[in-house]
Amino acid sequence: MEDTAIFYSSVSLLFLIFVFKLWFQPTTHRSKNLPPSPRPSLPIIGHLHLLKHPMHRTFHNLAQKYGPIFSLRFGSRLVVVVSSASAAEECFTKNDIVFANRPNLLLGKHIGYNNTTLTLAPYGDHWRNLRRITTIEVFSSKRLNMFLSIRSDETKRLLEKLSRVSSQGGFSKVELKTMFSELTFNIMMRMIAGKRYYGDDVEDEEEARRFRKIMKEAVSYGGASNPGDFLPILNWIDGGDFKNKVVSLSKRIDEFLQGLIDEHRNKQAGLESTDNMIDHLLSLQESQPEYYTDQIIKGLILVMLLAGTDTSAITLEWAMTNLVNNPEVLEKAKAELDDQVGHERLINESDVFKLQYLQSIISETLRLCPAAPVLVPHMSSDDCTVGGYDVPRDTILLVNAWAIHRDPKLWDEPDSFKPERFETEERESRKLMPFGLGRRSCPGSGLAQRVVGLALGSLIQCFEWERVGDEKVDMSEGKGTTMPKADPLELLCKARPITNSELIFV
Ligand code: HEM
Repeated sequence: MEDTAIFYSSVSLLFLIFVFKLWFQPTTHRSKNLPPSPRPSLPIIGHLHLLKHPMHRTFHNLAQKYGPIFSLRFGSRLVVVVSSASAAEECFTKNDIVFANRPNLLLGKHIGYNNTTLTLAPYGDHWRNLRRITTIEVFSSKRLNMFLSIRSDETKRLLEKLSRVSSQGGFSKVELKTMFSELTFNIMMRMIAGKRYYGDDVEDEEEARRFRKIMKEAVSYGGASNPGDFLPILNWIDGGDFKNKVVSLSKRIDEFLQGLIDEHRNKQAGLESTDNMIDHLLSLQESQPEYYTDQIIKGLILVMLLAGTDTSAITLEWAMTNLVNNPEVLEKAKAELDDQVGHERLINESDVFKLQYLQSIISETLRLCPAAPVLVPHMSSDDCTVGGYDVPRDTILLVNAWAIHRDPKLWDEPDSFKPERFETEERESRKLMPFGLGRRSCPGSGLAQRVVGLALGSLIQCFEWERVGDEKVDMSEGKGTTMPKADPLELLCKARPITNSELIFV
């Protein structure tokens, strides 16, 4: 009995000491001039209790109170949130190398091949090599031009699908979120492996079904933050449930991707190389086997699929939402297309670069609805200062691009959808940062602009678009690290009288 009492007293005492230690700032940080922080930071959890979806709005509200550079504690981790263009610029110019790291999180460990992929790798030789290789072998204009026919074909298939739905003459209701997601996945998978996994012409339905299931699960984890990353004890409390699910998914992804690589390797032995990414990377593997390992190739495929599909599909969905909510903008875009492309032929990718108003619509969509509203988390690899505040090594940096894009000090009528602003303002200006800034900024921006530009231009050229009701389409954001619309977009569409419509819908 006495032993039990001593045991419980000791445990209670230890617990109190633990809480007391956590309640006060760790000594290493006490003397530093850290960015302001909401008080109190609770024992053990820090500020995790403040985090409500959508995260960029929560951070924006906190910035109103604590300023454009403030700090939070996620469990034991220090996080600095930046919400002004000047502070973001300081992070990605003066401190670019210091912040070129990524935090090491559970998802990256298991799904991201132990953080060795382009998106997650720590800053260093390996990341630099990956970035150099992909700049030349994946994202260069030469490689992107090689896949032009895939993008055109998939865009046409989308138009055909819509024209079938709306062929009754009047307006028909269509759900666009799924169509945009299938468009971007098909484009990416055909570039990667020459395969379609959605819609018609799917060669192996069973394989496609497996792929769709895995990707759905992977995209859903993209939106799930794991509190156990910041409070390891939670991983223990939930019996490792989250970790087990992630490990199981990572095994299935790896098996699938290895299957694709092996299939291409076996085919290649007999056939001449075809023009898809896997074949190309396998031919590089022959000359430089030590670098182009299967794991590097699998990591690249995964990055293309996870970073390059949802983001473009979401952007298309927001662009269409903004257009039907601002019919005068839609009319002006139609007039530009009628004027510069006409009705005799379908818009092509080289037209897109000449259509200034269409480009402004895309920039304005990325300003108001950036697909990655707080970019991708960075981590400091050394002590540094931002805005005069100390930022210690190993701090997670979140840049609230969403808030910067709505800063009234930078933008006139910041909440209005006004593509015209880009007729006078620099589109490349550093206050617009949907693709991030600095050395870890998005290498896929060129591809994204082509996919989104062609699809959006084609939808405007070929169809009339209207809202389902009189009310404006609800702009609420759903959950996720990317910023999806809360409700999938449904619109009314009707084919426009295109003179040479048989050229388009054949
Ligand atoms: C509208 C579409 C897209 C948006 C809004 C977008 C946005 C972003 C953002 C904000 C980042 C993080 C920048 C930072 O760390 O500060 C990023 C990184 C990245 N994006 Fe994109 N992206 C898009 C499309 C694509 C596409 C199509 C691909 C490839 C197929 C791609 C591949 C990547 C990769 C590999 C990284 C990580 C780069 C690194 O860590 O070195 N993205 N993107």
